[in-house]
Amino acid sequence: MTNPTDKTSTVELRPDIYQFRFGRPSSHCYLIKGKPKNVLIDTGTGANFPNLVARLAELGLEPADIHMIILTHEHFDHIGSTAYLFNTAVVAAHPLAANKIELQDEFVMMGKYLDEPAGPFHADIWIEGDAMIELGNYHLRVLHTPGHCSGCICLHEPDQGLLFTGDTVFAGGALSGIFSSGSISDYVHSLKRLSGLRVEEFYPGHGPISKTPRQDMQKAVADSCMLMEDSKVLFEALDTKATFRRLFATVRKPKKPPQTESQPE
Ligand SMILES: [Fe+2]
Repeated sequence: MTNPTDKTSTVELRPDIYQFRFGRPSSHCYLIKGKPKNVLIDTGTGANFPNLVARLAELGLEPADIHMIILTHEHFDHIGSTAYLFNTAVVAAHPLAANKIELQDEFVMMGKYLDEPAGPFHADIWIEGDAMIELGNYHLRVLHTPGHCSGCICLHEPDQGLLFTGDTVFAGGALSGIFSSGSISDYVHSLKRLSGLRVEEFYPGHGPISKTPRQDMQKAVADSCMLMEDSKVLFEALDTKATFRRLFATVRKPKKPPQTESQPE
């Protein structure tokens, strides 16, 4: 862990909704002070935990005052500090993220990439798409939005038109990379679904918030469709038949060699 730095800040986005802005590699975190329970959306890296504690203290909260954690997906920069909050908070994630966390699937979570192996915790609640989380003053609808990775969710507050997007889409309509377990075609589908929502502002896991969500989402959809087409061209250019032949050869049962009849001498 590091000492708290002054490169972080807290922004009150709406009444009782706060953004804890953290620099990379950590994600931002979002605190919703519900009535009466407090929810944290993503926890940032484990190394960033002192900064998270400092931001909470500014609001008169201790880590034990976080009642629920919702993880937008399974990447290390969004989940790392969960291990420090796990004893007192209920943790929720989509099943495709929860499973990878449960099995410590480092290949997908990428924690070792920055010496941030996942700490000892698991998701208590495996939340499917369309689940509702009622906080009293706000309610969050879970949307499964695979693409960046398979376990991505966004959280939509329909009354206020707020959307917490994790790494699915950033301000300006910027897209994420597509990492292990992700899919370009799923990404296109997820963004098209998000573009149909009523959203006044969206709150991503990195960078600034979006105050022009309609335009940003339209750009993200267009760019993801272009990426899909580009990937087809690239795929065609590669010798895919040879690649698949080698792949299938490794999984198919090898044929028995033909029986040779003994030839008369
Ligand atoms: Fe991510």
